[in-house]
Amino acid sequence: MAHDKKIIVGNWKMNLNMHEASLYLLQLSKLVKVRRDVEVILAPTVMTLQSLSLQVNLRQFKLAAQNFFWRDHGSYTGEVSASQLRGVVQYALVGHSERRHIFNESDKDMRNKVAAAVRNGIKPILCVGETAWEHANGETKDVLHDQLIGGLANITSEELDQVIVAYEPVWAIGTGQNALPSDVTAAVKVIRKQIEHLYGAKSAEAIQILYGGSVTPDSAADYLSLAGVDGLLVGAASLEAHIFSSIIEKAHKGSSEAEED
Ligand code: PGA
Repeated sequence: MAHDKKIIVGNWKMNLNMHEASLYLLQLSKLVKVRRDVEVILAPTVMTLQSLSLQVNLRQFKLAAQNFFWRDHGSYTGEVSASQLRGVVQYALVGHSERRHIFNESDKDMRNKVAAAVRNGIKPILCVGETAWEHANGETKDVLHDQLIGGLANITSEELDQVIVAYEPVWAIGTGQNALPSDVTAAVKVIRKQIEHLYGAKSAEAIQILYGGSVTPDSAADYLSLAGVDGLLVGAASLEAHIFSSIIEKAHKGSSEAEED
């Protein structure tokens, strides 16, 4: 199923302070028109989220948390819960490779986080992808299977339409090493097949799948044109408003004519 909206996510990671984030949002809002065919999602650090949520025009941009803890409240020093993020963000990244590999988060953490997001009315963007070693050793398919089974274990088929999957090969994140379009198409097919196996053909068709890993304004259109790719998860190239806005424009041009102003 071709989705009528492309999704472009900007993951700022641990960059931009309050002042810079606010200025960025101001700049981006001047550069980007409200488009019916593009959903733009910004994922700032947690400390800037609340002030940005007061500044943002939700018709133009949505907000995402980069991370959260899966319990709703309690004695978890230093953590922020999905229930606290309710009303502040509309989306949340889950299982970004930096969470998995730097902070040792497991598939058990992922499944609890995916469920916590859905329980709190926040759409989880579940990130999956193989390491360079797994890629070189032909293990991509197995890794994607395991991460999907692990991450979605607490999700029913009714809840699955709240979930977005992002294919992010670890070796392509922050490396400037672009994944080949054929690799991306193959991985997206594996993901849909596994969703079909877990939830049936209709769910597999309906689920939105993003690509992420060293996306730039030059490569964005190519990835967006791939069959089965519904959008992009952008890191470094989302940190400057004018660069990110040109990626957003590619998503609009690459889809149907639908403009509001
Ligand atoms: P990158 O990051 O675009 O800088 O490779 C992507 C991501 O981490 O989601």
